[in-house]
Amino acid sequence: MNYIDLRRDTVTKPSKAMREAMAYADVGDDVFGDDPTVNKLQEKCAELTGKQSALFVPSGCMANQLAIKCHTNPSDEIIVEWDSHIMKYENSSPAFISGVQIMPLKGNRGVMDVEDIKAHIRPDWYHFPKTTLICIENTHNRAGGIIYPLEDIQSVSRLAKSQNIKTHLDGARIFNAVVETGVSLKEYSECVDSISFCFSKGLGAPVGSILCGDKDMIELAHRYRKVLGGGMRQAGIIAAGAIYALDNNIERLRDDHKKALIFAKGISKLDFIEVDLTTVQTNIVIFKTEIDAPHLKIVLEEKGVILTNEGRNKMRAVFHMDVSEEQTNDAVNIFNTILK
Ligand SMILES: Cc1ncc(COP(=O)(O)O)c(C=O)c1O
Repeated sequence: MNYIDLRRDTVTKPSKAMREAMAYADVGDDVFGDDPTVNKLQEKCAELTGKQSALFVPSGCMANQLAIKCHTNPSDEIIVEWDSHIMKYENSSPAFISGVQIMPLKGNRGVMDVEDIKAHIRPDWYHFPKTTLICIENTHNRAGGIIYPLEDIQSVSRLAKSQNIKTHLDGARIFNAVVETGVSLKEYSECVDSISFCFSKGLGAPVGSILCGDKDMIELAHRYRKVLGGGMRQAGIIAAGAIYALDNNIERLRDDHKKALIFAKGISKLDFIEVDLTTVQTNIVIFKTEIDAPHLKIVLEEKGVILTNEGRNKMRAVFHMDVSEEQTNDAVNIFNTILK
């Protein structure tokens, strides 16, 4: 069956033009710094973020973990949002890789209250771990693609600076926030010591993420990337996909947001579905269902729509370049047919 795949935005396949760019990429051995396409990508990302330097890495998880490793020492504590990717889906890596403890703070739709952060920064006492890093996620995945307001990021930044604490922005989907708000990548980046983003989500590239920061930090991250076995040889092949994505696929993220809203509005009219439309800010739709979600998922799959459920009454649909507006309307019609 030709499924309408709404499970996540990582399911996209590289377009013909992207594949061509990848096939003819100029490559070298990137472990020796010889790959011109990787170097070009890193320079481009440093320029786009206004940071001194950038490092191409295999995944968003590795980018986050390298940032944590670079900004902390073992036995430190880091503040992250309760429902963030670092907290929920990175296998306790901060403990495993960096030997740090997490202080998770519950945000409002992923956005932490700066006073709450302040209250959880540890006083300098030998009984306590040192708070050395605050991580923010924008857009916030589990909150449903919520945009972290720039003013809130700026407040966190001011607080962190005043306490000599580093900041990292997990910007796996930062361009979704950029196109929707008009806030530039530079404006977001200048609030934080490091920022990472993914090419393999809405931007449609097959592999790769980038970590940007100052020169010393990225040199250290380069060393740790090697420790984690993340050095890749002729990585220019995949870096070319990332460059193509940056050049061609940023503005089109708006289309994904449009489709998400069409879908959310369409299903919100149904009796057994509840969607808070104010949460549909980018490409993710989280909705409640009075019908058993795992069961509904199976029925939808039989009709050709695949998405994910969370527990018994919550579902998630993610919009991306490989689902068209027509398929979006089809998905709404399938919901209608099942739930009418
Ligand atoms: C907010 C966020 N950060 C990081 C990641 C990790 O990216 P990767 O799957 O490339 O490791 C994801 C993946 O979905 C994510 O949503």
